[in-house]
Amino acid sequence: MFPLLLVLVVSIPLSSGAQIPNQGQAKDLPVATNGEPFPWDRMRLPITISPLHYDLTIHPNLTTLDFTGVVRISLDMQEDTSTVVLHAKQMHISNVVLLAPEGIRPLRVLEYPRFHQLALLSDSVLTKGRKYEVQLEFAANLSDSFHGFYKGSYRTSSGEVR
Ligand SMILES: *[C@@H]1O[C@H](CO)[C@@H](O)[C@H](O)[C@H]1NC(C)=O
Ligand SMILES: *[C@@H]1O[C@H](CO)[C@@H](O)[C@H](O)[C@H]1NC(C)=O
Repeated sequence: MFPLLLVLVVSIPLSSGAQIPNQGQAKDLPVATNGEPFPWDRMRLPITISPLHYDLTIHPNLTTLDFTGVVRISLDMQEDTSTVVLHAKQMHISNVVLLAPEGIRPLRVLEYPRFHQLALLSDSVLTKGRKYEVQLEFAANLSDSFHGFYKGSYRTSSGEVR
């Protein structure tokens, strides 16, 4: 099993972070954990939203052996979309918001564990050429990944690691 933090920090940039899904194609879509159709059906995704910057903060708790964190991802929109797909593995995700020029809005989240993907659903369209950020809070156990956590931590841009 991959270390949890390493998966979060590395897999998002390598997968280009955010993608345009198959909008409007409901048939044969995978099913998210909540039973709704998941708007993307491939492990590898085309690059139509480019992540520009990741701002990651990690708070490990060495008593409970879990950690919480916040990641904020700047997106460069190359097409209009209302859905952003990200990779995340074995994380409890919460408080997902879109930081748009006109304000902060909550995003709905669908999870597709088979491909370790999250779909972030906006109730309004994210417009090509504008700058947006998405922010996610996450939590996970350090457990067996304790050593991997520290090995992986060098990649954090603004991590708090003790
Ligand atoms: C770790 O978790 C314990 C139990 O919830 C809590 O009492 C403690 O304050 C936490 N420590 C840190 C550094 O967050
Ligand atoms: C950590 O593991 C415990 C026991 O398996 C589980 O109940 C808890 O939800 C996990 N916490 C996180 C943040 O994954």
